[in-house]
Amino acid sequence: MSRTTLSNLPALTLVLALAAGCSDSGGENGDRKTGKPERNDESIQYGKGVFEKNCEKCHGKEGKGDGPSRGLSIPKPRDFTKKHFKYVSTANGVPTEEDLFGVVSRGVPGTQMAAMEGTLTDYERWAAVYYVQRLAGIENETPVPLNIPPAPAGADAKAGGRLFIMHCSKCHGVKGEGDGVAVGTLSDDHGDLISPRNLITEALRGGDSPEALFARIKIGIPGTPMVPPEGYPALSNEEIWKLVQYLQELRQSRIE
Ligand code: HEC
Ligand code: HEC
Repeated sequence: MSRTTLSNLPALTLVLALAAGCSDSGGENGDRKTGKPERNDESIQYGKGVFEKNCEKCHGKEGKGDGPSRGLSIPKPRDFTKKHFKYVSTANGVPTEEDLFGVVSRGVPGTQMAAMEGTLTDYERWAAVYYVQRLAGIENETPVPLNIPPAPAGADAKAGGRLFIMHCSKCHGVKGEGDGVAVGTLSDDHGDLISPRNLITEALRGGDSPEALFARIKIGIPGTPMVPPEGYPALSNEEIWKLVQYLQELRQSRIE
């Protein structure tokens, strides 16, 4: 068979497709992989490489939050071996893969942890998530979903406001500005002083949706003093929805 340019076309097309990142499984030639991989030894190993390049400088080689670029800023990079994940959607505090992928993609606004959506492919972010699960030793732990009941019809933000004064104001302040009487006495599980969020002006690090707010109040923020029942009593689902409605009204006021 003679070597014509035409006979090389299919191979060329394949190479171009790989280079454009159109393939889920490509990458043997060093191209960046895309798509969601299965969690297996290969993807976890890939995640180790992603972690070493992009995360280790803050989170440390073993994920203990002691990397050289951790800086002095608070909160410190998470020590994964403490198994405290703040922004989870589950009843038992074990993050789902999606919870971790969400944090890695959108970052944690207001902290050193930048959003990786623009810099890492989805494959790289999933692989890094699998490696974080391994470092934390939670690979075989099962997340228990938090059943969030639908919001009751008819908002009752006023009742939510009263609940807020009762249960939240000692940290977040009477108006939610993050200036309650307990400020200055609160520390996280790294032993650092931690400030309650200004709920009017600051970005919500675990997401703005009503469901995200519901989860935040129901489970609390593990590794911080904001966990029921230590920080405030375990509230009923109806009470939590009223609080969510109040918080949404409060946050709306910053735009008006
Ligand atoms: C510049 C420093 C820095 C880099 C780089 C960094 N992180 Fe973080 N990361 C942080 C800080 C700081 C926090 C703690 C934020 C907080 O407590 O609110 C954090 C928190 C986290 C959390 C915990 C989220 C939760 O719900 O509690 C995960 C997971 C995480 N990082 C994964 C990663 C991965 C994966 C990478 C690399 C792709 C990475 N981080 C790169 C600083 C960094
Ligand atoms: C013991 C003190 C304390 C109490 C009581 C408390 N919080 Fe917090 N809250 C905090 C701290 C500290 C943070 C910030 C945690 C962090 O940045 O890691 C926080 C953060 C939050 C956030 C931000 C979540 C995000 O995604 O960024 C919300 C919303 C919130 N609290 C709502 C409430 C509500 C509603 C109550 C009452 C039911 C309440 N808190 C009671 C200390 C408290």
